[in-house]
Amino acid sequence: MLGPQEDKLCGIVSALTVLSSICFVQCDLNCLSYSSSTGTGISVAKSTVDKLLKGYDIRLRPDFGGPPVIVGMSINIASIDSISEVNMDYTITMYFQQSWRDKRLAYAEMALNLTLDNRVADQLWLPDTYFLNDKKSFLHGVTVKNRMIRLHPDGTVLYGLRITTTAACMMDLRRYPLDEQNCTLEIESYGYTTDDIVFFWQGGDNAVTGVDKLELPQFSIVELRLVSREVRFTTGSYPRLSLSFRIKRNIGYFILQTYMPSILITILSWVSFWINYDASAARVALGVTTVLTMTTINTHLRETLPKIPYVKAIDVYLMGCFVFVFLALLEYAFVNYVFFGRGPQQQKKINERLNKANNERPRYEDKRLREQVDAYGNILLTTLEMNNEVMPSDVGGSMSDSRNSVLSFDSSGVQFRKPAGGGGAGGASSSRDGFGHHSLDRSAMRARANCRLRRRSSKLKLKIPNLTDVSTIDKWSRVIFPITFGFFNLIYWLYYVN
Ligand SMILES: *[C@@H]1O[C@H](CO)[C@@H](O)[C@H](O)[C@H]1NC(C)=O
Ligand SMILES: *[C@@H]1O[C@H](CO)[C@@H](O)[C@H](O)[C@H]1NC(C)=O
Ligand SMILES: *[C@@H]1O[C@H](CO)[C@@H](O)[C@H](O)[C@H]1NC(C)=O
Repeated sequence: MLGPQEDKLCGIVSALTVLSSICFVQCDLNCLSYSSSTGTGISVAKSTVDKLLKGYDIRLRPDFGGPPVIVGMSINIASIDSISEVNMDYTITMYFQQSWRDKRLAYAEMALNLTLDNRVADQLWLPDTYFLNDKKSFLHGVTVKNRMIRLHPDGTVLYGLRITTTAACMMDLRRYPLDEQNCTLEIESYGYTTDDIVFFWQGGDNAVTGVDKLELPQFSIVELRLVSREVRFTTGSYPRLSLSFRIKRNIGYFILQTYMPSILITILSWVSFWINYDASAARVALGVTTVLTMTTINTHLRETLPKIPYVKAIDVYLMGCFVFVFLALLEYAFVNYVFFGRGPQQQKKINERLNKANNERPRYEDKRLREQVDAYGNILLTTLEMNNEVMPSDVGGSMSDSRNSVLSFDSSGVQFRKPAGGGGAGGASSSRDGFGHHSLDRSAMRARANCRLRRRSSKLKLKIPNLTDVSTIDKWSRVIFPITFGFFNLIYWLYYVN
């Protein structure tokens, strides 16, 4: 009953089959014609890759059991992103290339180099290279993992990666910021010993490229050195390549940020010496401001550096400037003390003593002691001897005389005057009197001691500038401070720049 319908169906099905088969044939023809012209490469490459990867054992190194695999390395430095003193490391981005010969991957079907998708790398044996001193590294993964696999007909594999690595670089900051650092990148095989793998810099000294194009804000690369050696561990000896570069810090930044301000602040502190000594508000304010500014400069610098225990070159300089600024402030304290504190007090004391002496021994006064106090509080001693031949009674008569004279020299510039012939004679006669009256050994010895003291002080007087005169202190400071600072700079730069 359903016969005719089945027949119909069958007819349709068979028609479709025929159509489809015609279609397929057509496609095959098309494909063939396509491959015959340009597609030979694809099918050949496909079959080549299939053949290479089929039965490839990723677990065994090339030439397993035979001679070591020789892996050549080359690096193209894309950038050195940062060099950090605080963390003692540097960050470098590079194209890292390794090439070795894997006979299992040799092909003779075509003379083309085969650059394969990066995922093929997961199916091939790769050297277990690692960076010995890296802290954190990553392979860039945008848009796909940045790696490259290229096969050559003789089985040479070129494997390239784009890596950013942060590597430790221990720095000696003793000469900071006039320092040079030596940073390295150590490349080693993790598991394979030299029996299985050997590393070498491909291209000798030209293995590392891109260095001349590098732009580092704070450093310039002075020298680059490539070393290849073997290191021994308990598990065997391993091949190691090291790339070391010597970097020199550019001083420009520090000149502008630290040295110039410090120099200017130090010079500013000397302005105080040209300001009148009774303008205490101006001079103290200047002194304190400069000291605080030096402290601020020091603090700012400290933020960018690790807490190292030793003294850096910049510390020496800043401490030097700090000392100069501080001394300038102290100089004013001294001037102020001499002028407002000690001078008038001393004058008062001298006056008191003089009065006492006058009251106690009026009889001596006429003969020997003619002291005068001038308008500045300086005592003019008329009868004291400057030269060595002092009569015993000349000083033996009164201790207070000599003490007065010594003290007053210290503070307010005693003027000794050599007595005239008559005065000397008078002194001599009185001495004879005094000697006759009290000829005690003790008093004579005391007299001699006093005499010696006075002589010494009169000698000293010639050397020490008149410190009572406050403007003299400033005058000397104006010369001594700049000269000492210049000398300090000379020594500093001579020592650290070489
Ligand atoms: C294959 O690569 C090698 C080495 O990089 C090169 O010398 C050769 O010219 C390349 N061959 C072709 C066909 O590009
Ligand atoms: C850096 O230091 C290492 C180890 O002390 C040394 O082998 C290398 O030659 C130095 N590099 C430079 C560029 O001086
Ligand atoms: C020391 O300075 C005072 C005050 O200016 C002056 O009167 C005195 O003559 C000076 N003394 C000497 C020895 O120069």
